[in-house]
Amino acid sequence: MSNDKILMCPPDFFTVDYVINPWMAGQEESLSLERAKQQWETLRDKIGEFADIVTIEPQPELPDMVFTANAGVVYGDKAIASHFMPHERRPEEHYFKKWFRDSGYDLLDLDDKIGFEGAGDCLLDRRGPWLWTGYGFRTEIEAHAEIRRFFDIEVVSIRLTDARFYHIDTCFCPLTDGFLMYHPPAFDYESRMAIESRIPPHKRIVVDTMDAGNFACNAVNIGDRVILNKASDPLKARLMLAGFKVHEVELSEFLKAGGSAKCLTLKLNEPRR
Ligand code: ARG
Repeated sequence: MSNDKILMCPPDFFTVDYVINPWMAGQEESLSLERAKQQWETLRDKIGEFADIVTIEPQPELPDMVFTANAGVVYGDKAIASHFMPHERRPEEHYFKKWFRDSGYDLLDLDDKIGFEGAGDCLLDRRGPWLWTGYGFRTEIEAHAEIRRFFDIEVVSIRLTDARFYHIDTCFCPLTDGFLMYHPPAFDYESRMAIESRIPPHKRIVVDTMDAGNFACNAVNIGDRVILNKASDPLKARLMLAGFKVHEVELSEFLKAGGSAKCLTLKLNEPRR
């Protein structure tokens, strides 16, 4: 089996100079670019042990371009590019679209009126043939039908209700073999029901407020590896019991922008089911 392929963007121009999620408020002065670069390189090297890394060239004035999960979402040889809700990130769209086109993807250019933030809000289940897709903050429900139509795959709509968990990948992480790491309070009642009807109890790994606040759900999963910023001992034990090996990589500087390991990556090989 060939390696997973993952897109990352070096943090050359990373900073916090606008506030588009609650984590960014008050962080403008506190960021160390030096530390961010070291943390990003450590993450890249760790992921590089288990997958092939592809990089996109960073652009000046686009500090959040490091979060390649928001470039778009890939399924088979097709991709849907993001259309950002915050106008601050809209100039990234041009570079990500160009990258998808140059890389040979069949690209859906979503209707300009619909907000959609890529794999930040759209996660393939690791066992069932469906896409867990968030809405409520950065992706609009109108995008869900477009995703279903273009990819020809079932879309399970999940409503996000807590502004701190504004992308589904901040509070929900499908894992190999149908496991799921998630923070239930981040979803409305119907969405929790939808989750629980598809994931049997022994496959659910519930993440508490403290671990969720450390972005434990924002994990990169490659095979039996789970790479994340930080996890408590009980969460690590639960993951190990499920057969996973946990790697912690400190990503404090990226948490100040409201992102962590998973946000800094985009999985490029998502074979059609
Ligand atoms: N500052 C970025 C934003 O608010 C962080 C994006 C995090 N990405 C993610 N996939 N959760 O858009």
